[in-house]
Amino acid sequence: MSLVSQVEHRRALRALSEDQIPRQTLLRLVEAACLAPSCANSQPWRILTVDDPERLAALKAALTPGNYWALKAPAMAAFATRLEWDARLDHGRDYAFFDLGMAAMNYQLQAVEEGLIAHPIAGFDAAAAKLALGIPEGTVLLTLIILGYPGDASHLSAKHLAAEGAARHRKPLEELSAFDTWDSQLEPPPDGGL
Ligand SMILES: Cc1cc2nc3c(=O)[nH]c(=O)nc-3n(C[C@H](O)[C@H](O)[C@H](O)COP(=O)(O)O)c2cc1C
Repeated sequence: MSLVSQVEHRRALRALSEDQIPRQTLLRLVEAACLAPSCANSQPWRILTVDDPERLAALKAALTPGNYWALKAPAMAAFATRLEWDARLDHGRDYAFFDLGMAAMNYQLQAVEEGLIAHPIAGFDAAAAKLALGIPEGTVLLTLIILGYPGDASHLSAKHLAAEGAARHRKPLEELSAFDTWDSQLEPPPDGGL
């Protein structure tokens, strides 16, 4: 059986067109995100879609220099939550970030279906980004998803240009997955394997 096409085709690409994305399309992405499962159906995700030019410019000012390519984006989505908005169980089982991630994945897969690039990033000044969007202090802005239709790649750095067409790099399945019981191969190497 083959993998779901959107999973295979989703890539964190950077060559964005500046063309506007219709609001109806942006709303479908949010709708898909909100259909994600969550612990006790707590739905801890909060998603701000940013396409107002002034607000978008303020958010772009919070990007790290390495995310220069995102300056072309006609829209971004901010994914935020709080740990107390979801189950907090024993043995480190805080579900808010997990459930936010599942919503973010649905969002990205719907974006593939819509012909959009949806590239999640952590490279931003969180305090500045939260200020730009009016996100309250205790709320965690975990990721921004950079949005755009595929566009011109000529402004990308050599490294990013090479990455656009490169094959995916993934660890071997044996380092990430086993059947039935924990396997020593699942332990990352001492350097963390990052
Ligand atoms: C939480 C998170 C943060 C990321 N932050 C950045 C970032 O700041 N800048 C960037 O260019 N890519 C960022 N990425 C994209 C990853 O580098 C990319 O997903 C990874 O290299 C795998 O490539 P693929 O998504 O094309 O399979 C981030 C991805 C995730 C999920």
